[in-house]
This record gives sequence, C-alpha cells and structure tokens, in this order.
Amino acid sequence: MSMATAAAGRREPAALSPTRPAGSVETFFRALAPNWHSQWAWDHYEPTILGLAHQFGLRRVCEIGGGRDPLFSVEAAARNNIVLTVNDIDAGELALTPPGLATARFDIAGDLSEPDIARGGYDLMVSRMVFEHVHDVERAWTNIHALLAPGGVALAFFPTLWAPVFALNHILPEKASRAIVHALFPGRRDDGGDPKFPAFYDQCRGSRATLEPMLRRAGFSDIHVQRFWGHGYFDRMPVLKQADHAFNALAAKIGWDFVTTYAYVVVRKDKV
Ligand SMILES: C[S@@+](CC[C@H](N)C(=O)[O-])C[C@H]1O[C@@H](n2cnc3c(N)ncnc32)[C@H](O)[C@@H]1O
Repeated sequence: MSMATAAAGRREPAALSPTRPAGSVETFFRALAPNWHSQWAWDHYEPTILGLAHQFGLRRVCEIGGGRDPLFSVEAAARNNIVLTVNDIDAGELALTPPGLATARFDIAGDLSEPDIARGGYDLMVSRMVFEHVHDVERAWTNIHALLAPGGVALAFFPTLWAPVFALNHILPEKASRAIVHALFPGRRDDGGDPKFPAFYDQCRGSRATLEPMLRRAGFSDIHVQRFWGHGYFDRMPVLKQADHAFNALAAKIGWDFVTTYAYVVVRKDKV
C-alpha cells in the first residue's frame, strides 16, 4: 500500500544508520531523526524495521495483518536474515499471501486460543495500516506483550485521529466513506488489489500522553511515539494541497498532537 507523492519543501530524511548506543527505542529514534511529514513514515517503514532488527538483534518477525501484501518477500526475508511469519485475522487474506512465507491466522485482539499462536515466539512484531481496523487496541498491545520474547520490539504504524481526513472517515457512515475512497482511488475497490476495510480508530492517536498509560498497562515501559503530520490525499487538488500542507507544517512546528495524521508506536518488552 502506498500513498501519493510527498508534499514539497521537506528536508531529506536522515540515513537509517543510527549510532548504536545500548539503548531504548527512544534513543534509536532520536538517532534516526525522522522528518515530520508522513511521507517519511511510508518511505522508511521497511528500513526502520530492518534498523530495529539490526540494532536489537531481532530475527523472528511477525507481521500483524500482513495478509495479501506482506512487507518482505521470501527472498528479501532471507537476504535480511529474517524469519517472517505473516499474520492476519482473515483466512481469505492469508490465502493471498505469496507462497513460501509462513502464515498464522489469529485476531491480534483475540483471546490467543488459536492453534497458530506462538506465545513468546517473536522478536519483532510489526504492522502497517492495521490498528485502525482493530476493535480493542489495548487488548492487541497486551497480546503483543504476551507474544514477544523478552527484549522483543513491536512497531505499529497507523493513521491517527483527529486529523481531518481520518476524522471524516471515522464520522461518515462506512458506505459513504467507502464511496469517496473508491472514487478517489479506484484501486481500492473491493475487486482491486487494495480493498478498504472498516476502520474504528480505537486508540489511534499521536499523543504520547494519551497512549502511554495504555501501553504501560499492557506491560511496556520502553515506549516511543513518533508523530507525523501531512498526507497525500489532496495531491491531485493543488490549492487544497497547498493549504493543507501549510496547516500541517504549522501543526508539526508547534507539535500539535491533536491533528497528527500518522504515528509509529514502538515498544520494547523488558529482557527479564
Ligand atoms: C488495510 S489492510 C493492511 C494490509 C497491509 N498491512 C498493508 O500495509 O498493505 C488491513 C489488514 O489487517 C487485517 N486485520 C484487521 N484486523 C485484524 C486483527 N484484529 N488481527 C489481525 N489482522 C487484522 C485485515 O484482514 C487486513 O489484511
């Protein structure tokens, strides 16, 4: 899944080779110095995951909600010394997972009673554009804590409220928001390669103050929330695009959490 082009005027992202202090996920991201614009998040999702795997020595990776479009091919996983398991709640999605990749069908917010569940079996759990579809995100983070090995890391990349574009998607009836998305992005029709799934946006916020209590209840103390602003939905509407970019640039400058568009939430389970 990709977004349209980046807004103009952004600085180039830093190289993904942070110096390696023994560290927390917080220090990892401080060294990475991500750009404020969400295009950085899309462009650097894979290198960030590889950087985390390298920094913290993580090999067994579970991609939550990877379905038909997992992050790594068999070859890329092998090349990067990663043992990848593709998870999804939907057996139909997993049937479309490229052959050769291991799959595990379960609900990340479920009761963990499915036979495919490996408690403590993953070093790194990642997800992209999945948490907004999860009905109980606190339960998902609690389950992730149970599924990670000691010292394991999880990264969830999701859209956030109350960015106006996602607030609209949240507030409009599913039928109406589906019609708008299908009109703007024909590839996202149900018969296309990138269907639209219903979104709940439970705990999908870009504010550390909002998320931290939940993440602590789930068992994590090493926590990082990387906030992003801006999006590509108005790329084909020049005037709106410029006005929206100016709004997001200002919001990023003053650090206005309420209107972030996306976030990476990254946690590390204690080693003992
Ligand atoms: C919008 S798609 C994103 C797919 C892929 N991660 C990407 O970035 O292209 C959301 C995926 O999450 C899966 N999903 C939704 N809720 C889930 C849950 N509770 N547990 C596991 N997977 C879930 C859906 O079946 C779907 O495959």
